[in-house]
Formats: sequence, C-alpha cells, structure tokens
Amino acid sequence: MDEKKVIFSGIQPSGDLTLGSYMGAIKNWVELSEDYNCYYCIVDMHAITVRQVPADLRRRTLEQLAQYIAAGIDPTKNTIFIQSHVPAHAELAWILNCYTMFGELSRMTQFKDKAAKNSDNINAGLFTYPALMAADILLYQADLVPVGDDQRQHVEITRDIANRFNGIYGDVFKLPEVYNPKVGARIMSLTSPENKMSKSDKDKGGCIYIMQSPDDIMRCFKRAVTDSDTWVHYDPENKKGVSNLMQIYAVATGKSFETIESEFTGRGYGDFKTAVGEAVVELLRPVREKASKLIADKAYLESVYKEGAERAAYAANKTLRKVYKKVGFVGK
Ligand code: TYM
Repeated sequence: MDEKKVIFSGIQPSGDLTLGSYMGAIKNWVELSEDYNCYYCIVDMHAITVRQVPADLRRRTLEQLAQYIAAGIDPTKNTIFIQSHVPAHAELAWILNCYTMFGELSRMTQFKDKAAKNSDNINAGLFTYPALMAADILLYQADLVPVGDDQRQHVEITRDIANRFNGIYGDVFKLPEVYNPKVGARIMSLTSPENKMSKSDKDKGGCIYIMQSPDDIMRCFKRAVTDSDTWVHYDPENKKGVSNLMQIYAVATGKSFETIESEFTGRGYGDFKTAVGEAVVELLRPVREKASKLIADKAYLESVYKEGAERAAYAANKTLRKVYKKVGFVGK
C-alpha cells in the first residue's frame, strides 16, 4: 500500500515555461517529489479557455513534458500526464460545476484579469475554469498543491467546493492545502516589477524563459529595472525591481537576503544584475540542455505520457465512481 501523501499540480501549455513558473512551481515539485506520491499534469484543457493555435499547443505540450523531466521529475517515480488523456477530469468538472456558485466564480482574480485581456472571447470555460481545476486536484485526493501565489485563490475555491460537496454527501474529497514556496512564490516582470512575470506578457524583455539562450538571459537581466539609488536591499514596497532581483538570486543560489545585501555592499547595480543573470543562466543550463535532447526523442515522450495517463486514470476513476454513486447516477 502506498502510504505517501499525495501532491497534484499542473501548468498550462499556453506559452513557453518561464522563470516564474520554474521558481514558483516546478523547482518545488522536484524537491517534493521524493517524499510524496506526485501527479504533475500538463493542463491542455485549461489552455483552450484562451484561443490557441492548435499546432503550437501540441508542440508546447510535448516540450513542457520534456521540461518537467529535464527539471528533475522522475517519471518512473511520479505520474506525469496530459490532462485531456484522462477523461475523468472533464467528467468530474461537469459535476463540480453544479456545486460551484456563480457568485464565487465571479470573484476570481484570474477570471477578471483574463476577461479584461481577452474581451473578445469571454467564454463560459474561462468562467468555470476553477471547477475544472478543482476536479484536477480532488480526483487524486491530493493533500498538497504546490503553486505560486497567483493560484492560491483557486486552491481556496477548490476547498470550498469540496467542503460543500462533503457537507451534502459525506467525506468524499480530501481537503487540499496550498503549498507556496517561502521565496519565489511571486516573481515579477524584469521590466515592470509591479506586474507578475507571465508567459502571456507582451513585453518580452520582462520575462525569462527556461529554454532561452544564456546571451538572451544576460541581456534581459542587464536591462532589468532597478531604482535611482545604489543600495541592494530587500524592500518589496519601495524597491520593487531590486527586491525582485534579490528574490530571483536567493532562489537560484540558496543565499539569504542578508547574505546578498552584504555581498553587494558598496558595489553598483551593474555588478548585482550581472551576478543575478549568471546565477539564472547556471540554474537553467542543465534543464535547457536536457530538455533539448528529450524533445527530439518523441518515442520516449510518448511512452511517458501514455504510462502516466494510465496510472492517473486508475486513481482518478476510483474517485469518479464514488462521486457518481453519491450524486445518484445508476452504475454501469
Ligand atoms: P499557470 O500555468 O499560469 O502557472 C503555472 C505555475 O507557475 C506559477 N507561476 C508563478 N509563480 C511565481 N511567480 C510567477 N511569476 C509565476 N507565474 C506562474 C503558478 O502559480 C502555477 O503554480 N490554473 C493553473 C494551472 C492548473 C493547476 C491545476 C495548478 C490547472 N489545474 C491544479 C495546480 C493544480 C495555472 O493557470 O497555472
């Protein structure tokens, strides 16, 4: 019997993976993957809530799979799979839609942001997105959901939906806890540090991608916005750019903010930005190199996602059967 606690998390293949998703999510997935029974998903069904070019979506889904493995997630010890390969996600999402309130969905920050950015395509899927995310998590009876800060609200609504359902039918779903890293839960854009670093960012200089070349990464860090004094000091209210760079440097090197402050006492921002850029280049180098090799091996990737889907479906269907019975569907 598997006694390990369960983790579920996912990333949308709606854009190339960024340093934000690496530091806020993937790096922690890897660290947790030894001690937990982990399900790491590529949530392609969530991605189509915003219009995608089909060929790009297909390519990015496979690239993302290669990047998960390259980052250090061992597919023989963890379950890595593509959301649309396990129909239980869509099936439970429909049911949970019927236990999710219009009012609570209307309060979701991500919905409001994305609706504002995609005003010509505010579709029902974008609105009910959290019910599908709740299905993802609850199907596996997950104990922990490691995500960046921006996804905290979606894990909270998952708990509300699970609580509501359990209140009616008894203990069907485990209530998941959110897991946010202490440092790196909210990486900001390098060019506009008041905004989150995001794969959909129009300003490409503000965003670092896992697969970006070292030269490009260095160029972006050298242009990163700081402020008009010369003090490397952590103050996220008044020194947003510098604090963001310190956060990135802290995650990349494992150094504390105090150590970083003393390392750069009396040195200019130029030195500091170069050091952060170099640390990020070294952090991402092995991931990029391994992912480039894996992307070429389509047969291997296929074997990973097929096996992952089988394992995931086995666990998911157990929960789904229980739910069908509870709500009163006639068993097959
Ligand atoms: P997504 O695809 O937008 O982001 C993937 C993960 O990366 C984190 N992240 C960040 N963390 C720190 N700083 C940033 N700038 C940054 N940008 C992104 C996100 O918090 C997330 O953890 N709805 C989810 C995907 C999802 C999911 C799930 C997650 C679908 N089902 C079930 C967990 C469990 C999303 O859009 O993440």
